[in-house]
Amino acid sequence: MKTFPKDFLWGGAFAANQVEGAYLEEGKGLSTSDMQPQGIFGPVVERVPGDSSLKDVAIDFYHRYPEDIKLFAEMGFSCLRVSVAWTRIFPDGDESQPNEAGLAFYDRLFDELAAHGITPLVTLSHYEMPWGLVKHYGGWGNRQTITFFERYARTLFARYKEKVKLWLTFNEINMSLHAPLTGVGLPEGSSKSEIYQAIHHQLVASARVVKACHEMIPDARIGNMLLGGLMYPLTCKPEDVLKTLQENRSWQFFGDVQCRGVYPGYMLRYFRDNQIQIAITEADREALKSTVDFVSFSYYMTGCVTADEALNKQARGNVLSMVPNPHLISSEWGWQIDPLGLRTLLNMLWDRYQKPLFIVENGLGANDKPDAEGVVQDDYRIRYLNDHLVQVREAIDDGVDIIGYTCWGPIDLVSASRAELSKRYGFIYVDRDDSGKGTLARRRKKSFYWYKEVIATNGASLDG
Ligand code: BG6
Repeated sequence: MKTFPKDFLWGGAFAANQVEGAYLEEGKGLSTSDMQPQGIFGPVVERVPGDSSLKDVAIDFYHRYPEDIKLFAEMGFSCLRVSVAWTRIFPDGDESQPNEAGLAFYDRLFDELAAHGITPLVTLSHYEMPWGLVKHYGGWGNRQTITFFERYARTLFARYKEKVKLWLTFNEINMSLHAPLTGVGLPEGSSKSEIYQAIHHQLVASARVVKACHEMIPDARIGNMLLGGLMYPLTCKPEDVLKTLQENRSWQFFGDVQCRGVYPGYMLRYFRDNQIQIAITEADREALKSTVDFVSFSYYMTGCVTADEALNKQARGNVLSMVPNPHLISSEWGWQIDPLGLRTLLNMLWDRYQKPLFIVENGLGANDKPDAEGVVQDDYRIRYLNDHLVQVREAIDDGVDIIGYTCWGPIDLVSASRAELSKRYGFIYVDRDDSGKGTLARRRKKSFYWYKEVIATNGASLDG
């Protein structure tokens, strides 16, 4: 019988800015996320006293984490992926000393997880950076940001070395091409050269903190995090196939640098062909040689690529544009559902990198409506997750080394792309709506009990 490995990590994942709230508490500074109340594609809005954004409170995890962790433990989680808000530790990004209150919060959080036997997987940077670094330094466009980030990461490694043994550098590092402010702190309309220069700085920073992590916590493992944007050719026309290869390389490039330690030739050609000039020093080349221990990624959807411009209708996920696949159905938000694609992607990444893989995001955003008894009967979510997990099991049977699965948003949270609460991913319903109304009370959905059973049986209860 096909099974999951004995020590497979099961759990959920989220980002500080989508759950914590408390956006100015205990010395926290403003982040890029705080400046984009309408989400990662929305405009920058200057914050003024008395204004408000849904994310300012989010689901109030900052104050309610003990209650939430208890529910995760009830489901049997062995792992929880969280991120640290950089601005709780270095409010403007360029301070020489960290904010003790921010560090103390994550101490409490990690202690609470430990008390429930839940392993933390910690993302250093998930869709936010200090606004101070954007305003005064030009974000990742400035080489100095590498130093600020390394100081921040080293502060976390030193403080939590006994508590956190699994780390990730940058969430969906390939998304900067599509949302430059969120990704690299550059304004919309930045040129390709500016964006790739900032990306280069981020890749160097990623490699430098991989090295720091290995030195400071030798028994820890640190990975990268890609938006696994698997593309299929729309047809078998050779032009479509070549274009698809190139499209897939536009995100694989990040993994290639982070896993192999050098820029791939196809990227150097892309830079040449597009007159993209990047300053890369000898020290950068040396730094890039520190490669990650494992590869993590998010997986929500796939799309198609065509060389035929006339057919190039754009369908949008939260980050990538793609041609719709006529063989797939879509979620309420237009994301095409493709469980089999997850098996393909897992095999593709394993073939390419031969490093353990970690699925750190996957899930269905839906407009859940509680029934008369107040219960969300989310059979659609159960079906979605079941079908994806069946394909994870198939990939394991194919010989792919997979560390674990943390589905996105185990508790409802504020969505990244449009900053909505009506797009729900959770096993746990949170009583709060898009206008901010609600008690913030937590309630178990039907999927809560389903996931609990999946974890308890280590996947044996899956259907299929
Ligand atoms: C990923 C991000 O892109 O997708 C998450 O890492 C995000 O932060 C998730 O929330 C789902 O996207 P959305 O827009 O539905 O929140």
